[in-house]
Amino acid sequence: MTSPDSRPLWVGTSWKMNKTLAEADSYLDELMAFAIPSGIQPFVLPPHTALARVRDRLPADSPILLGAQNAHWASEGPGTGEISMRMAKDAGATLIEIGHSERREHFGETDRTVALKVAAAIAHDLIPLICVGEPRAVRDVGGAQDFVRVQLQIALSELAPTEFGQVIIAYEPIWAIGERGTPATVDQVAGVMALINEVVTKSGNPPRAVLYGGSVNLQNATELLSDPSTHGLFVGRAAWEASGFIEILKLCASLAGAGAGSPTTHSRTLPWTSMAALL
Ligand code: PGA
Repeated sequence: MTSPDSRPLWVGTSWKMNKTLAEADSYLDELMAFAIPSGIQPFVLPPHTALARVRDRLPADSPILLGAQNAHWASEGPGTGEISMRMAKDAGATLIEIGHSERREHFGETDRTVALKVAAAIAHDLIPLICVGEPRAVRDVGGAQDFVRVQLQIALSELAPTEFGQVIIAYEPIWAIGERGTPATVDQVAGVMALINEVVTKSGNPPRAVLYGGSVNLQNATELLSDPSTHGLFVGRAAWEASGFIEILKLCASLAGAGAGSPTTHSRTLPWTSMAALL
């Protein structure tokens, strides 16, 4: 079990644009029958339409945190098709995913809108889950670290350095995401994970966690978590069936027990039992 002075492994999934209410219900039926092991902090990001439903169905003491996959930076107003941070929170979100590459590519998300959303999330007491990651062409010419550093610096630019410790960063190289992605190896990502930790921690406040995402599955999770700068996993397709998510949670719990993602030098965050009480 993770000791009280080390952070849990964060393990979560975004359902992306999947699941009707009935499908969300059957996922939850299966997930709720599974006793969440200690040492991990699970989270689920349903589509907006299912967020309140999932919140209402989870027991009040469930360790599973919920989040939204996007929200606008303004608290209300003429934002057709959007929801605000306030509305996401009202529907059950504790986390807000910001800047996923699919939103950057298809919905006009920029580094600047990411920065505005990160600040709005903090203002609404939500945890920003900030996605960064380079395209394949940038990786191929050796530019991954510079690209991610700039993304991150802009994403955090509206925060006071004292607020940096409230964020979660997900490094999701675009070339590794989705059906056409190539799963990354730990050697390909370790340098960027270390850089992210360094940039965010410069203020003296380490982030809540730095996660890896992009084609994570049962086969590569152990290797990816062997990197000491990686404090959890953000999973897409492999966790869209509850059984897949449960298997990954089990594996991560066993690795958390073995010390993965829990450097003893990092003492600010708490195991999920305490974390849930604080949120
Ligand atoms: P994937 O999605 O695991 O299906 O590649 C990851 C993500 O986009 O967060």
